[in-house]
Amino acid sequence: MQASQATPPASFAGWLDDTNDITRAFLAAGQIPGLINIAGGLPDPQVYPVDALAEIAAQSVAEFPNETLGYGTIEGLPDLRRAVAARYSTDSLRLSPENVLITTSGMQALDLIGKVLLNEGDTMAGQFPTYLGALDSWRPRRPHFRNMNLQTNDLDFVAAMTGAKFAYTVPNFSNPTGRLVPEQTRRELVAAARQTGAWLVEDDPYGGLSYDGPIPPSALEISAEDEPDDGSPYSGPVIYLGTLSKMVAPGLRVGWAIAAPEMIAALTTAKQGSDLCTSGLTQRMTCKIFEAGLIESMNPVMLRLYGGRRDALLAAMDRHLTDFFDWQFPEGGMFVWASAKDERLNTDELFKFGLEELVCVTPSSVFDSQEEFRRGIRLNFTINDAEALEEAVIRLARATRRLLATLG
Ligand SMILES: Cc1ncc(COP(=O)(O)O)c(C=O)c1O
Repeated sequence: MQASQATPPASFAGWLDDTNDITRAFLAAGQIPGLINIAGGLPDPQVYPVDALAEIAAQSVAEFPNETLGYGTIEGLPDLRRAVAARYSTDSLRLSPENVLITTSGMQALDLIGKVLLNEGDTMAGQFPTYLGALDSWRPRRPHFRNMNLQTNDLDFVAAMTGAKFAYTVPNFSNPTGRLVPEQTRRELVAAARQTGAWLVEDDPYGGLSYDGPIPPSALEISAEDEPDDGSPYSGPVIYLGTLSKMVAPGLRVGWAIAAPEMIAALTTAKQGSDLCTSGLTQRMTCKIFEAGLIESMNPVMLRLYGGRRDALLAAMDRHLTDFFDWQFPEGGMFVWASAKDERLNTDELFKFGLEELVCVTPSSVFDSQEEFRRGIRLNFTINDAEALEEAVIRLARATRRLLATLG
């Protein structure tokens, strides 16, 4: 008798079994006609400076053909590393190009941090609730996630970070909560990083989206206060991540990590095996974006548009959701985070009821490494106008009422 020729089943890596099917459903929801999507975190395309970027792209290729069209160094364009170092340097924070790695946007930096710091089973502490993309990027390394709630008054920062390879925070208008971490908490985080030896990852895509005034100094700046005053480059425990995505346009895929030279060297080794180098074209464009002051000229336009929409969303929530949810006022960023008053309300279920009512919101399970906090939702206010936001909230109220009716 002939042996069976059946093809063996495909064998995928084990971490693929750990992904959340809500995320998949949430991406598919984008295709439903008539749906109002307040789940994403996208800039409004009307803010993209199309003409200015087209001109900058053309100039970049014409002036620097080899650099923009060829391979570049792994660490990034020397001019851009210098420009990033200069942009973030202060009297006490001395940055040199060896403190900077140019990345293919913020997501790559998160991925590289996982690659260089996490062995299977290692612990990382994440500001709770945590950016979904960060959790996704580290999941393949199978770490132990520890939630770190910076909003409780009694958090023991040292205990939270002891034994962790790093702590992950989004201090400026966090995704998903929109909250600003106060200066004192930033100081506590830096002190605990120094005491425990854990790295402190400060992810900052939203720092420019402050609608109500100035923000506290970054953990990077705070940590520089303790650095030796001997002219050497920054060597502290903070790994700061910046990106053009929310300030100019996410399609450029340019970001940067600022850290101690030894960390930059390790991240560079990891980047070598990821993409060799970030696009020379968009890196050169970034140099020109900085030189032209494009970020500074776009910022007031974004603040007016998004700040108005934040107020519109909050007003609509006041009109339609106060019976069902509590929420926090976001001083910046792109999101409002709301928690159901009824503890039985599971927002994974609400997500499904919402789709039936043609509104898509993000449930809290995807921001919770333990998937235990089930009654939160994240609402975005940057991509829809005031009218669509009002309609979205009316639909959400209807979905909530229907779901609660099933609970009795
Ligand atoms: C907190 C946070 N970090 C990082 C990113 C990644 O952004 P990008 O890869 O576009 O720079 C995002 C995107 O939404 C984010 O919200």
